[in-house]
Amino acid sequence: MSRKILAALGSVVLALSMAACSGDGAGGGGNDSDKPGDLTIGVSMPTQTSERWIADGNSVKEKLEAKGYKVDLQYAGDDIPTQSQQVDQMITRGADVLIIAAIDGTALSGQLQAAADAKIPVIAYDRLIRDSPNVDFYVSFDNFKVGVAQATALLVGLGLQTKDGGKGEATGPFNIELFAGSLDDNNAHFFFNGAMETLKPFLDAGTLKVKSGQTKIDQVAILRWQQEGAQKRMEDLLTSSYNDGSKVAGVLSPYDGLSRGIITALQNAGYRGDMPVVTGQDAEIASVKLINDGVQSSTIFKDTRLLAEQAVVAGESFLQDKTPQANDTETYNNGVKVVPSYLLPVQTVFKDDIKSVLIDSGYFTAEEVAAGQAKG
Ligand code: GAL
Repeated sequence: MSRKILAALGSVVLALSMAACSGDGAGGGGNDSDKPGDLTIGVSMPTQTSERWIADGNSVKEKLEAKGYKVDLQYAGDDIPTQSQQVDQMITRGADVLIIAAIDGTALSGQLQAAADAKIPVIAYDRLIRDSPNVDFYVSFDNFKVGVAQATALLVGLGLQTKDGGKGEATGPFNIELFAGSLDDNNAHFFFNGAMETLKPFLDAGTLKVKSGQTKIDQVAILRWQQEGAQKRMEDLLTSSYNDGSKVAGVLSPYDGLSRGIITALQNAGYRGDMPVVTGQDAEIASVKLINDGVQSSTIFKDTRLLAEQAVVAGESFLQDKTPQANDTETYNNGVKVVPSYLLPVQTVFKDDIKSVLIDSGYFTAEEVAAGQAKG
């Protein structure tokens, strides 16, 4: 691949050769091997069990293919060895850029070293890859703010706060329970920290009580973000802490898949009209329907189309030997270095916001929301 050889020749030769290229499109034109059709982007996604990652994978693939690039898209079935193997294969098959949403943020150091040795830039997609110097860029959302938004949505749902940040009419005290995502996902910590900072004054004042006493992230985390894991933990909480007739009023859930497990446990225990305020994230269609039906209270919408777009923009920059534009160069230290990042904003969605945020933007149709299923 001429791009890699150029990289190896160093910046002077590179600058000269870039100057010699006439166009400023992908590959710069002029050299056959720089044409988009000669360049392959490896896209490694964690799992197909969650619809958001299917949407992410499809969006990245479509956008890259629309620009003429070849795409090697793989899903790893939430299995770490499978993802390592798939990334290894992308490297040996000659990928020019890698876009990776890691299952375990610390498990890919070997693959990333091999990528660096082959001069293949690596973009961490939504989940930061940790403990490696070989992560070149990170595209994600403002994950601390996601946590703040989730906790705020819980406060609004309970009536302790108004949507515009004012004081709500409710006074509490309310029993709540907390959930976090997979501990091996860097994001889980950002979400939980953002949420806990927001809830702290209410917990300190006794307005909110975590009846189980489980307030530490390692007590409330759900491995691999699995719905069944969340259902099981909620069932255990109901048995251990709510067998005295007391009720749960709110559940901080960081992801729609977990929220559905939590809701199932609550429904099985007889909650209906008194369903607690349950938060979420990702605007997965099954949960958007639950919000529309008044069962789940809220979700945080992260527009995967915009994330995919940013990944493509960053990938193209690398292919043109440019540095992708970051809008955050401070927040995401992966344990070895601060990874330059492009972070996108998020939106909270309550029932009233489904139309304006999700339907009017073309993310879902009204029919899809009513059916709880995306047409794809
Ligand atoms: C996180 C991601 C969330 C959610 C979760 C489970 O890394 O930021 O939006 O998708 O994984 O898939």
